[in-house]
Amino acid sequence: MHNIALMQGDGIGPEITSAAVRVIEVTGMDVHWVELKGGERARQQLGTPLPDETLESYIQCGVGFKGPFAVEMEDAVVSPGWRRGIPGGRAARTYNSATNALRREGGGFVAIRLARNFPGVPAPIQGIDVVIVREINEDVYVASEYTVGDDTAVALKIITRKASETAVRFAFEFAKSHGRRKVTAIHKANVLRQTDGLFVKVARETAQEYPEIEFSEEFIDAACALIVARPSVFDVAVMPNQYGDIISDLCSSAAGSLGLGAGATYGTEASLFEPVHGTAPDIAGKGIANPVSQILSGALMLRHLKEDRAAAAIERAVEDALLNPNNHTPDLGGKATTQRLTQAIIERVPRFMS
Ligand code: NAI
Ligand code: MG
Repeated sequence: MHNIALMQGDGIGPEITSAAVRVIEVTGMDVHWVELKGGERARQQLGTPLPDETLESYIQCGVGFKGPFAVEMEDAVVSPGWRRGIPGGRAARTYNSATNALRREGGGFVAIRLARNFPGVPAPIQGIDVVIVREINEDVYVASEYTVGDDTAVALKIITRKASETAVRFAFEFAKSHGRRKVTAIHKANVLRQTDGLFVKVARETAQEYPEIEFSEEFIDAACALIVARPSVFDVAVMPNQYGDIISDLCSSAAGSLGLGAGATYGTEASLFEPVHGTAPDIAGKGIANPVSQILSGALMLRHLKEDRAAAAIERAVEDALLNPNNHTPDLGGKATTQRLTQAIIERVPRFMS
């Protein structure tokens, strides 16, 4: 039995998480959903978007399944000491969002996003099937900046062997366990010889330990061009934080809708599985949200829980349901409701379980 922390989220969150929960349950898996409050609704009810109990239960479960949280820009989240044997708890910490607090407090070290085309779904570019693995704690996003005089601003770019190796190793292990053949390191070491130079050096060294997986390298600018011109060269791609941020959005929208990509943050203490899009306030409550990103994030979570058979059945059911344009939600150019697409997936899951 798996204890999974469930956070419905805001906007379309409740609609798509309930759809995904139904899909996961139809696999027959033994799941205990630990329902937790978080996001804007929690802020309105309880005065904080991340109550202590939510953070604590999430870490206890070790696995979280969450819908998108609405983020108020001015909100800085304080996460006061949850205990776990630390006398006096932990010092309060401030994060720019509840989602980031969950990722960081869970010891998040790498984020992945799956971007792929689905047969029968229109997209600007066809032939994309890439797993983007992004280091998430360093690079220029340490946001260590300063200003010199009135007209000069400086930001530090931090790359360490430890974080780079962790991300690269994760990419190779992910490739191995998911039947992927190749890992590409993306960087700009021809210019940034020290920082990206270290990242790619570590990637080359780590690659030696995985002779069964092909290893290649691309410069970040060339990688963007290749995604458009020859996307099939990418399988698993690993990169420092900022390139990962940019490439993730590029690949997701090139492959179709934001509503199709799965996302996860893996951590030393807890891992969080969530769609790549936000709360879609413009369509919330209308029953037309595309549940696929949430459902496929659920499949990724099942693989993390070593429930590969259930995960594969869900992935194949989604693929098969999307072949029929009558099941396409408005973001895919169709007229289907969330309910209709969900039902089409649910009907197919048992067929692919055998
Ligand atoms: P968004 O992703 O919510 O929406 C962008 C556009 O994509 C909208 O037109 C929306 O209708 C559409 N869309 C997104 N997901 C869809 C789906 N599943 N089916 C059909 N259409 C879909 O991005 P936006 O508007 O920038 O953000 C809205 C809120 O979500 C903000 O408060 C933002 O901070 C939050 N957000 C939360 C995230 C998280 O919790 N991880 C991630 C991104 C945004
Ligand atoms: Mg981003």
